[in-house]
Amino acid sequence: MERIVYVNGAYVPESEAKVSIFDRGFLFADAVYEVTSVLDGKLIDNAGHLARLERSCRELGIKMPTTAEQLTSIQQTLIEKNHLVEGGIYLQLTRGNEGDRDFSYQDAIEPTLVLFTQAKQLVDSPKVKHGIKVISFGDIRWKRRDIKTTSLLPACLAKHAAHAAGADDVWLIEDGYVTEGGSSNAYIVTQEGTLVTRPLSHDILHGITRAALMKLVQDTGVAIEERLFTIEEAMQAKEAFISSATTFVWPVVAIDDQPVGDGQPGSIALQLRDIYIQTARAHS
Ligand code: PDD
Repeated sequence: MERIVYVNGAYVPESEAKVSIFDRGFLFADAVYEVTSVLDGKLIDNAGHLARLERSCRELGIKMPTTAEQLTSIQQTLIEKNHLVEGGIYLQLTRGNEGDRDFSYQDAIEPTLVLFTQAKQLVDSPKVKHGIKVISFGDIRWKRRDIKTTSLLPACLAKHAAHAAGADDVWLIEDGYVTEGGSSNAYIVTQEGTLVTRPLSHDILHGITRAALMKLVQDTGVAIEERLFTIEEAMQAKEAFISSATTFVWPVVAIDDQPVGDGQPGSIALQLRDIYIQTARAHS
């Protein structure tokens, strides 16, 4: 069945959706995006995603064509039109199209807005029971990873390399330290039981799921340290996991073919996943 998608003010079947070949999103990846998860037909942590979208636009000087309220209404309409119960909504906003290819641009250019739904099992994911395997991979991305742009070629190449190596994903490494997962934030639990994750900076995306988890951890009594950690420290950790809107929390059970802890999904990762899902369902 064809999805109904949103393009610049119109709801159309996906086969009829069109964007110009001169769109700067297509030519230069001059675009920002957000992925909001949907559970029980409801948007999860959407205010955070739309606030980050506004920030990404501000940082790049891309015009927001609508208010956050209007965006939410478009997202809800797409959920209804596509009968989406579980999965996500992808939203992309490009700087727009000036009718030719030119590196520079006018400030007044009208942005292009595209949204579509993706049905996916988020709660009963097989990755939860067995965990995922990651490989370490050099982080060759630009220096403003806090801005959620569609310039994702380094992540695509890294994930492809992980799949070719029989793994599920990557942990990206810069100067010996883990920055993030291929499309997620990265965490370890030390042998002493402290949760460690990289502090917020321009080096990583400020995950909306990460922000929610950091609040929820406080109620569990688990100590948090926001600091850099190396891949070697991660390999010696008791647990490792990732978070994102498309995974919530997935345990990492192996890094570069070495088991993390006992090679099984960690109990803190699974507990945080459960609390996150319960809270999201209760507050959406
Ligand atoms: N990616 N770090 C990177 C590099 C990401 O691409 C993502 C999300 C995250 C987690 O952010 P959040 O919790 O707000 O989803 C961290 C999305 C899901 C994607 O590109 O599909």
